[in-house]
Amino acid sequence: MRMLSVENVSFLYENSAQEIMSKVSFTAEKGEFVSIVGPSGCGKSTLLRIIAGLVQPSSGRVLFMDKKVEGPNSKMSFVFQDFALLPWLTNQDNVKMGLSMTDLDDDSKEAKAAELLDRFGLGGFEKYYPNVLSGGMKQRVGIARAIASDPQVLLMDEPFSSLDELTAETLRSDIIYMLENKNISVNSVVMVTHNVEEAVELSDKIIVLSNKPTHVKRIIKVLWKRPRDKRSSRFTDIMDQIYAALAQ
Ligand SMILES: Nc1ncnc2c1ncn2[C@@H]1O[C@H](COP(=O)(O)OP(=O)(O)OP(=O)(O)O)[C@@H](O)[C@H]1O
Ligand SMILES: [Mg+2]
Repeated sequence: MRMLSVENVSFLYENSAQEIMSKVSFTAEKGEFVSIVGPSGCGKSTLLRIIAGLVQPSSGRVLFMDKKVEGPNSKMSFVFQDFALLPWLTNQDNVKMGLSMTDLDDDSKEAKAAELLDRFGLGGFEKYYPNVLSGGMKQRVGIARAIASDPQVLLMDEPFSSLDELTAETLRSDIIYMLENKNISVNSVVMVTHNVEEAVELSDKIIVLSNKPTHVKRIIKVLWKRPRDKRSSRFTDIMDQIYAALAQ
């Protein structure tokens, strides 16, 4: 089943004459982990915001489960590089924010937020504020908030790049677990990353973008069961393919 279809998406900022993105197309199928790599400033974050319905494309369209995306939708959630937690809200209230588009009553929201924090190893931190947490713990709150509304698609913008490698590795496994676990709503992930190794480690499909005006240079499919051996030649071959496409 097709979760997302990005079709000929072009984009230009209102105050500028030149398109920053030109006719970008790709799909994300059910069960797929899709990574987007490309040069700095090429419009990766903009593309993710367009997919989420936070920004409208200048032309082209995005379909979520065959329906045109016209605004934000609780079935697609965002995970941010800088976590984007609100410092004046407790950890539990930050996770509750992820439920704001649902029609649960307040008691149910409280309970669900507490349960999610517990599931992510943050039981006991409900009433604390994000400033007492490490980067990895903050991103766990960010992920708990993102999955609170039982989204089918998770959109992640460099979610692990500000974390130390060990913490990042643990969170990567958590995301793969969610994707592969049939009892968890998430059934497709689209991640922007600068980290080519991370893209090969996780992805079923890697979208390589060009410089501005940004277009799709190459789509590399990785038909390989996870976990993947990073030291194998198969792994480095795929990394080389990505570097070659980026350098082209
Ligand atoms: N409000 C705006 N008006 C005009 N141009 C903008 C505006 N906001 C961003 N841009 C430009 O749009 C381009 C794409 O920005 P975007 O943040 O999507 O890129 P990115 O690939 O995510 O970058 P990075 O790799 O640094 O995260 C950038 O060149 C940026 O300068
Ligand atoms: Mg960006």
